[in-house]
Parts: sequence; structure tokens; C-alpha cells
Amino acid sequence: MENFISYNPTVLHFGRNILSSLGPTLKEFGSKVLLVYGKGSIKRNGLYGKIKNILAENGMEVFEYEGIRPNPLNRDVDAAAAIGRENKVDVILAVGGGSVIDSAKIISITIPVQNPSWDFFTYAAKPEKAIPLVAVLTLAATGTEMNPFAVLQNPDTGVKAGYRSTLTFPRHSFLDPELTFSVPKDYTAYGIADLIAHCLENYFSVAESTLTDRFILSIISEAMTYGPALLDDLQNYDLRAKIMFSATMALNGLTSLGKNTGDWGVHSAGHVLSFMYDIPHGASLTIIFPAWMKLFRDQIPGRIASLGSALFQKSLTPQESIDQIENFFRSIGCPVRLSEYGITGDVRREIFNSMVANKVNGALMKFREEDYLKLIDLFL
Ligand code: NZQ
Ligand code: ZN
Repeated sequence: MENFISYNPTVLHFGRNILSSLGPTLKEFGSKVLLVYGKGSIKRNGLYGKIKNILAENGMEVFEYEGIRPNPLNRDVDAAAAIGRENKVDVILAVGGGSVIDSAKIISITIPVQNPSWDFFTYAAKPEKAIPLVAVLTLAATGTEMNPFAVLQNPDTGVKAGYRSTLTFPRHSFLDPELTFSVPKDYTAYGIADLIAHCLENYFSVAESTLTDRFILSIISEAMTYGPALLDDLQNYDLRAKIMFSATMALNGLTSLGKNTGDWGVHSAGHVLSFMYDIPHGASLTIIFPAWMKLFRDQIPGRIASLGSALFQKSLTPQESIDQIENFFRSIGCPVRLSEYGITGDVRREIFNSMVANKVNGALMKFREEDYLKLIDLFL
């Protein structure tokens, strides 16, 4: 087991009607709020109206940034930060999924500086302080609600990259499973896949920590047991709650204790597919994870076999384990080949070039350039 420091300052509010304490929570930070949201889901499902009422009842002065897109862009972050800076906001309220909350994290550190937000990603700028961030999560998937990570795309450089700082944790996150009732079936499945992928990335980490492996296997089992049931019953509060809780626990530090870092090679490659073809994050991972396990099967056969055997509760070979995991992703309606997105033909070279430009790699399983082509052939 590796030495570790565990730090997580986010206050989590979980369950029914928790939004009743959103107003008083925001007021702790001041009266001027920058409300950040996506491309309309909160207007369609009525949450926007509820949030505006809460803000009005609590006498908040509201500035808004609408239109953060899935796989979010640095230019939206810069535009939102300019509004926050100009109006000297006291607090940011992010209402949405991972894309909105990730963007809000970077907005929170961009407002106090004059630099463009991408400077943090290239380490040309270092954050000194952050405007407090409060999040209302509407999609269970990324774990961003209780972690410091943020992932943005920069169309000018062709890169999708992650950033973290001790300043980028949300101060409070509000998780009412009912707010995820309107997430469509496909995105619900991508969320289940994403949380499983976070567990798998940490399972394939550089260090052994047996208790943490048990946390990981429990979270994956929870998702594999209740995820399919949820996909048949999208308005079921208890099932939504189980998946929301699992997604938060999959990437809030719990699954990496004593492991130093996860591998994250699959995420690194998945970001390339999201960037190039605008594939939803969770779907990019179900395309790549089976291929990644096939690529490295003979280097880590014991690890793959014990994963499959533990999850499916019977003795499996490495290849059988990979097949079962691939079948599970397929059974919940996630793609397991890039061709399922209609992307065919001679795309090997352009994906290869983007993997090189994005320096795709993992912490445990290192890619050589020839591995990129092997991986691509396994998921095309
Ligand atoms: O834009 P709106 O209108 O809000 O619609 C969104 C979007 O179209 C919609 N949606 C969200 N809540 C909904 C809803 N539709 C109906 N009802 C609701 N209640 O769902 C679509 C996808 O939203 P998005 O926020 O993009 O999804 P997700 O939460 O999966 O976030 C994906 C982003 O997070 C990054 C990914 O790379 C990707 O950019 N990640 C962030 C991580 C982190 N911060 O820890 C880790 C992850 O591995 C991941 O990389
Ligand atoms: Zn992910």
C-alpha cells in the first residue's frame, strides 16, 4: 500500500428536498451569484424556474451564463468568467452535469486573474484563489460534484485535458436523485459506464491496496446490479439514488486510497474520441475499455482474471473476463466499437495523430506509439 493523504472539503447534501437549504447556503458567501448551466435541459424539466425562485426568495442578485456544451470548451469558460469578473460575483452556482460543473470549477479560478483559462491547463498560470462554487448535480456520472477535477476542450490546440487544484473542489454539492429523472436512457447508461470506468481505472493502478479494491468491486457490483434495473424504470427514485451515490463514491478519493494513482490510460484515449467525434464521455470509455484490456491482457492476466472472477462470481480466464465486461456494456446499450457511431473508413491515421498530439498514456500501462495503432484496430 502506498502512503496517502486524504482531503475532501466538499459538503455533500444528498436526498429528497435538499434544495430547501440551497438559498441559505449560497447566502453564506454573499448576495451576487453567477448561475452557470448547459444547453436547455434545466429549462425543459422545470429546474431552472425552481432555482430562480430560490434565488429570488433569498434576495440574490443573479448573473447568468447559459450554453455550456457537453465536452465543454475553454472559450465558454472565459466568456462566463468575464461576466463574473465584471459583476464582482460572490459565488458561482453550477446547475447541470459534469460539463457544467467542470466549467464552473475553472470559471471559479479564472475570475480572480487576467489570464485565459487555458493557461491553467498549460501551467502558464497558477490559481491563487477561487470564487466559492456551489453545485446542483443533474446527471450521475463523473463524480465531479465531490472532486477537484475539471476537463475542458481547446479547439485551437486540438486537446482535451484535465486540471485539478485544491481550490477546485465545490464548496457544497446538492444531489437530489429526483433531479436526474429526466436524464434520457442513453445518457443514464453512459453515466453508469463512466462510474464503472472510474472504478476500473483505479483497479488497474500502480499500487496494491486490498481494502480499496473491495470498495471498487462493491461500487462496480452495485452499478451492475441496479444499473440495468434503472434503465427499465427511469423514474424510480431508489434506483436513481443508488446510481447517484455510486457515481459520487467512484471518484471522490475513496477508490484511490493507498493506490497513489489510477491508470487513466482509457480516459486519456477516450478524450481523443470525444474531441474528434463529439462522442459522449461514457460512450468513449465503453468503446476503449474492452480494447485496452485486450491490448494488455497478456501483461496483466492475473489482474484481469481476478477482476472478472470477482464481478461475475465464477472462475474466469482473462479473455472471458474481458468478454463479460464488454457484454455488460453492450447489454446496457453502450457502444463497444467506434463503427457503431458510423465512423468507418480510413480513420486510423487521424486518430493516431490525435493520440500523439494528446500524449495519450496511462500511469501503469505505458503506450508506445505502435500500441496506439494496435488499440485503434481493437476498437474500430
Ligand atoms: O446541456 P444540457 O442541456 O444541460 O444537457 C445535458 C447534456 O446534453 C444533459 N443533461 C444533464 N442533466 C440532465 C440532462 N438532460 C436531461 N435531464 C437532466 N437532468 O446531458 C447531456 C450530457 O451532459 P454532460 O454534463 O456533458 O455529461 P456528464 O455529466 O457525463 O459530463 C461529461 C463531462 O465530464 C468530464 C467528461 O470528460 C465530459 O467533458 N469528466 C469529468 C470528470 C471529473 N470532473 O471528475 C471525470 C470524468 O472522467 C470526465 O472526464
Ligand atoms: Zn470518466
